[in-house]
Amino acid sequence: MAGAGTEEQLAQRLEELLSVERFSPPAAFTEQALIADDGVHAAAAADPAAWWAEQARALSWFQEPTVALDDSNPPFYKWFTDGTINASHVCVDRHVEAGNGDRVAFHWYGEEGEQRDVTYADLHRDVQRMAGALQARGIGRGDVVGIFLPMIPEVVVAMLACARIGAPHNVVFGGFSAESVRERMEFSDAKALITVDAARRKGKTAPVKASVDAVMGDLPALESIFVVRHTGEDTPMTEGRDIWMHEAMAAAPAEHEPEELPAEHPLFILYSSGSTAKPKGILHTTGGYLTGVAWTHKYVFDLKPEEDVWFCSADVGWITGHSYIVYGPLANGVTSVMYEGAPDYPHKGIWWELCEKSGATVFYTAPTAIRACMKWGPAHPAEFDLSRLRLLGTVGEPINPKAWLWYHEVIGGGRCPIVDTWWQTETAHIMITTLPGAQDAKPGIAGTPLPGIDAAVVDEDGNEVPRGSQGLLVLRRPWPGMLRTLYRDDDRYVDTYWSRLGPETYVVGDAAKMDDEGYVSVIGRIDDVLNVSGHRMSTAEIESAIVSHEVVAEAAVIGQADEDTGQSVAAFVILQGDLVGDDELEAAIREHVAVRIGKLARPKRIIWTDDLPKTRSGKIMRRLLRDIAEGRAVGDVTTLRDPAIMAQLQAQVSGDEG
Ligand code: WT7
Repeated sequence: MAGAGTEEQLAQRLEELLSVERFSPPAAFTEQALIADDGVHAAAAADPAAWWAEQARALSWFQEPTVALDDSNPPFYKWFTDGTINASHVCVDRHVEAGNGDRVAFHWYGEEGEQRDVTYADLHRDVQRMAGALQARGIGRGDVVGIFLPMIPEVVVAMLACARIGAPHNVVFGGFSAESVRERMEFSDAKALITVDAARRKGKTAPVKASVDAVMGDLPALESIFVVRHTGEDTPMTEGRDIWMHEAMAAAPAEHEPEELPAEHPLFILYSSGSTAKPKGILHTTGGYLTGVAWTHKYVFDLKPEEDVWFCSADVGWITGHSYIVYGPLANGVTSVMYEGAPDYPHKGIWWELCEKSGATVFYTAPTAIRACMKWGPAHPAEFDLSRLRLLGTVGEPINPKAWLWYHEVIGGGRCPIVDTWWQTETAHIMITTLPGAQDAKPGIAGTPLPGIDAAVVDEDGNEVPRGSQGLLVLRRPWPGMLRTLYRDDDRYVDTYWSRLGPETYVVGDAAKMDDEGYVSVIGRIDDVLNVSGHRMSTAEIESAIVSHEVVAEAAVIGQADEDTGQSVAAFVILQGDLVGDDELEAAIREHVAVRIGKLARPKRIIWTDDLPKTRSGKIMRRLLRDIAEGRAVGDVTTLRDPAIMAQLQAQVSGDEG
């Protein structure tokens, strides 16, 4: 533990541990683990579809499915097609019916020290009322409902209320701009939006409804805006369209029967960045999704609902929040921690304070957050009692062994296994990791495909590459939580994931290696998608935002290696006419990107240039831009239309730094 020595001793211990290649599950963990031996992988591999069907029984079905996988029309796979189900029943009603209504679903903590315990019975009461309130406004099966809310219990209630009436939700991360919300409502033809008066962040209050209003005016499909009262701010309301959620709920009946929905009924759309400027509407359905998130949540995190307290530090606006704050934990009847704020407000030890307060036993976060905590130093976690923690997890990007070891020693006290979980918005749930009671962990290496999952590393023709060699990561067998399509864009779905190696091989978009034991290390994206602090960002989307600034002629965005955030956004910008870039313009462009997309897409670095390296067909060669930005010798330039540009650019960059 950090308290057991000085920072120097810690540094020395971490240095020594760097040579340890594998960490076996400690006996104290294995003894109580749900899965303590490795047989489950082989058991599932014998008949994966049947094995998943077995796992699906853990949910509550109105009509139990007799069909597992329908693969008659690849790559449009379906699961459990003759089953009927309702996600809000699985997540709430059945726990109340089983007598567990008094169990806390969320220990919620506000930024200013507020606390609210929300039980399963509380959720049941509120979800019923909110479902009724939505229906009273004519919202029903198949109508898309946007959700733009901060990390407050109402966001969970809103998602479950939509699920209850069969209205697919479309949650937009609270850190995105109002413009992004508008765009996502437009693309999905949302009929309603659920938002909030204002949101709090690090001691400040930002109006949300007012900024949404400013851009939302002209969407014909958007009939209703529900406003949750959170901060009590004065809020503009448009007669006939806008309604306070608490008033709508008070007017709704106390009881509401969940709709009996087919397993393949759409549960939600979640927009994620792709390699073009237009975000992809990733569509997930109900029965398969719940099967995948419930199984992986329970067994990867070894959760026992009666004993454990689960803390996932993500935001509900990302897939991690959908699957591992809302649907997985609630399907399993687990008690969770939900925190409204930032990891460094009101102080840099707030997560650890909340672990102590709530008695958290399993904690799940992103490598970028761990690196930030490392920077802040071990004194912050050392102030709090973390002795109840027994398992840790990471997600979102590769974790460097140093950060892994710091997490293991300082947060986990050397006794907690760590699961490094690889998955994507598209996969919906964890695909590659270690089962913590049954498999060794190797720092920096995610692990093996989970039971029922077939992952491989292949070459351009789809042939497996030798163990240890780099190749494309692919998934060769359908899994229940897989995306079903891109919303209203089947062609783009086929084109993005299945055109390269055919309709039976899902191309992930990551480069990876597999070792002799089948452990996969994920190297990074192979497309023009960036990963900043574990958040996916599209170079094309940021470029189009920069170019929409009036003085910009052209822009090229790349991801630059970054010690803290994994990658950071660097932009090469060509200005109109004879304009010369300066600090003021740099700040203006950064702000412009924040308004168009959101703060996290802002370029960390802007490099002014007069030209860009392009192929003869006009394609920007980002590989060369990355070489320049990272100060490497530039690679092969023979395919460039004008190789002289590289010398110019290099001079520009060294001039900038000088
Ligand atoms: C991409 C998916 C899954 C929720 C958060 C991100 C990268 C994710 C890992 C990991 C190495 C990882 C991949 C993947 N990624 N987890 N454990 N090790 N890389 O979801 O925005 O859909 O991004 O994140 O590149 O393709 P996402």
